[in-house]
Amino acid sequence: MEGKNIKIENEGAIRLITINRPSKLNALNKETIQELSEAMSTAEVDSSVRAVILTGEGQKAFVAGADISEFAHFDVDQGAKLSAKGHEILFNAIEAMGTPVIAAVNGFALGGGLELAMSCHIRVASDNARMGLPEVSLGVIPGYGGTQRLAQFIGKGRAIELIATAKMIKAADALQMGLVNHMTTPEGLLDKCREIASQIAGNSPTAIAAGIRAVNAQFAENVDGYAVEIEAFGSCFGTADFVEGTTAFLEKRKPNFEGK
Ligand code: COA
Repeated sequence: MEGKNIKIENEGAIRLITINRPSKLNALNKETIQELSEAMSTAEVDSSVRAVILTGEGQKAFVAGADISEFAHFDVDQGAKLSAKGHEILFNAIEAMGTPVIAAVNGFALGGGLELAMSCHIRVASDNARMGLPEVSLGVIPGYGGTQRLAQFIGKGRAIELIATAKMIKAADALQMGLVNHMTTPEGLLDKCREIASQIAGNSPTAIAAGIRAVNAQFAENVDGYAVEIEAFGSCFGTADFVEGTTAFLEKRKPNFEGK
């Protein structure tokens, strides 16, 4: 499948989505955000898809940010709307998916690109990747969740330093800070993501979705994460996956989860 700005490929239970604007370092223009939003919604409801890998075309960039040429002339109201819509249709939407999304960060992940990677559930970076939130160098701030999620990953002090200096960090530093889960060679990047996705694909999709929901609850305002965990834990007992998982264990065989 091919959108104008993204490529969608199926590899068994894994859906590989590639942002395909390499001449603009895969910068997120309005159309790309819309196509990504639709691709993620489609993956979420497709019972054959157990994990998504999101990457950028080429070896230079994952995503070099929101497309600066599109918002350079915006006023206050348009700026606020751009941010709100992005949160709603893509960045928050990915974070809320029950199907795990793995960001394969294959080069520059700047601004909206790092924000996109941080919306994903798992991040793997190639050792040539460079990450940062350079928005203040343009006179603006991260507007797709970066001020919140970066602090969640690396702590408030380091987040403010990265945002205020607009500096880029190397993949090795991102790994050490916990901003990415793994670092690989550029050649090994997708295979590492496939390895993680395959492990995910063998487990209960309904339980994974419940687990993601409970972890996300910790970061939601006015929500008791423990209460969400209790409710999500209980809900698992009503699923076919739970019957299959426990039965398979007792019968000493591998479970075959139908899921979703
Ligand atoms: N928005 C729009 N276009 C972008 C872009 C962005 N965020 N990032 C890169 N591009 C475009 C460039 O304008 C250039 O297009 P052109 O060939 O039509 O002129 C093309 O992608 C290649 O980028 P270029 O700057 O020539 O590559 P480089 O190797 O010299 O530099 C970067 C790479 C990533 C350092 C540089 O492109 C950059 O700083 N990009 C913006 C990063 C940013 O501020 N992101 C946050 C946005 S809120």
